[in-house]
Amino acid sequence: MPTMVEGRPGLPGYLVGGPKQLLIGGEWVPAASGKTFDSLNPSTGEVIAQVAEGDAQDVDRAVSAAREAFYGPWRRFSPADRERVLLQLADLVEAHAHELRLLDVVDMGTPVTRDPAAAVAGSVALLRYYAGWPTKIHGETVPNSVAPSMFTYTLKEPVGVVGAIIPWNGPLHGAIGKIAPVLATGCTMILKPAEQAALAPLRLGQLIEELDLPPGVVNIVTGYGRTAGAALAGHPGVDKVAFTGSSVTGREIVRASADNFKRVSLELGGKSPDVIFADADLDAAVLGAGWGVFRNSGQVCCAGTRVFVERKIHDEFLERVTAFADSLKVGDSLDPETQIGPIVSQAQLDRVTGYLELGVQEGARVVTGGGRLTDGDLANGYFVPPTVFTDVDDDMRIANEEIFGPVACVMPFDTVDEVAARSNATEFGLAGGVWTRDLSKAHRLASEIRTGVVWVNTYNQFDPGMPFGGYKSSGWGNESSIHSLDEYLNIKAVWINAAE
Ligand code: NAI
Ligand code: MG
Repeated sequence: MPTMVEGRPGLPGYLVGGPKQLLIGGEWVPAASGKTFDSLNPSTGEVIAQVAEGDAQDVDRAVSAAREAFYGPWRRFSPADRERVLLQLADLVEAHAHELRLLDVVDMGTPVTRDPAAAVAGSVALLRYYAGWPTKIHGETVPNSVAPSMFTYTLKEPVGVVGAIIPWNGPLHGAIGKIAPVLATGCTMILKPAEQAALAPLRLGQLIEELDLPPGVVNIVTGYGRTAGAALAGHPGVDKVAFTGSSVTGREIVRASADNFKRVSLELGGKSPDVIFADADLDAAVLGAGWGVFRNSGQVCCAGTRVFVERKIHDEFLERVTAFADSLKVGDSLDPETQIGPIVSQAQLDRVTGYLELGVQEGARVVTGGGRLTDGDLANGYFVPPTVFTDVDDDMRIANEEIFGPVACVMPFDTVDEVAARSNATEFGLAGGVWTRDLSKAHRLASEIRTGVVWVNTYNQFDPGMPFGGYKSSGWGNESSIHSLDEYLNIKAVWINAAE
């Protein structure tokens, strides 16, 4: 049986105490059912906290609170007021960066770094970026040819109550990625964190309470996807769903949202190609493509899991990327030496190891890694070492399905035409990478790869000003950038007949 961590030194004080509650209408409350569930540290299998298990009743209360706030005091916040709130939140997150990061480290298993606060810098930057928008969101005066007396203009108005459902692979950043555009556009929200890793989003909720913000603007309901998540996606009082997670669940969200035709934005899965040409800087490509797939134990939506290598350098690359994989230190996420932490949960571990077995059955060969680590202390956690498969055919399931573990499929190619076609031969379209010194190849593939982002001679770069979103089964709409705002805004046409 897992044991409870009682104020273990070095761990955030937030872990100590009773079950974490739901934030509804500015109050922390237990689930209506009184139920809770355990949150585990995937490095050790220990229970680190209990969390309220919200369901449809709690979602209903939270939606009422969000509607009340939307039609109440929040409407009277000027753009400059919303800017101030976002800047305040950025400062608070920055001041609590270390603690928030540690919660993700123990709850989700992402490795702590020497400077945990620096790991939160991207989330702080996102809040400050969105703080710039409220004062710049506006409609237009439009000339019309109907009558000189007719004055026509547009208004951009918040879409209303947003149900934001996030996954576990980056809990704090995922939460901030939804909260920031909600506050910037004047919407209100119910955030449903993932059941595997809700602690950082809940602690963020406490910081949000310190803001000069009316109750009910941000509500947080923790619980399972099939109950709390599904209730949010189907609720008639929710105007929009913003979802990040698997494509399978994305489809269910779309179905559930059909009754009241909710606006839906989806950031879904991927099976991203990373293409390495023989003329590339091989040192940079080994490191870039290696981290591009193994980072966060491969639990990254845009992980470059299909590594296509020009045949001339295939064997050398395979050897070098394998050596890189072997050099990475796998361990407890709290150990600052750790580069690869655990998989988030037993269920996800089973999924990943299931794919490792399947790959071998399908005829692929494991060059390194290939199974769960069970040495010493690691046996209690959910550890899978960086794994490299070779002899992979394009039609194998390991080459087509999102594994969401530290697993690379390295495959040779011969021509640009061939690799462009193979890159696109997937239902997904989230990200792609190209490594070459040849500008014409870079431009050609940047245009031909059908994904929402293409990185050339780099991988996993993000900036609040750059859009992030998927083509094909990888999603609808964009996160971050100017283009994300319209996902949270309605446009209204106003006609004023000023004839006497
Ligand atoms: P999931 O997509 O089912 O879960 C993501 C979020 O959706 C969680 O908050 C969950 O509670 C909620 N959810 C689940 N079912 C729901 C429903 N019917 N209605 C509303 N909300 C619901 O992902 P899960 O089960 O955690 O992981 C399974 C696989 O999904 C992974 O192996 C991975 O391949 C993929 N995944 C992809 C992510 C990405 O960012 N691309 C993130 C997380 C998982
Ligand atoms: Mg956990």
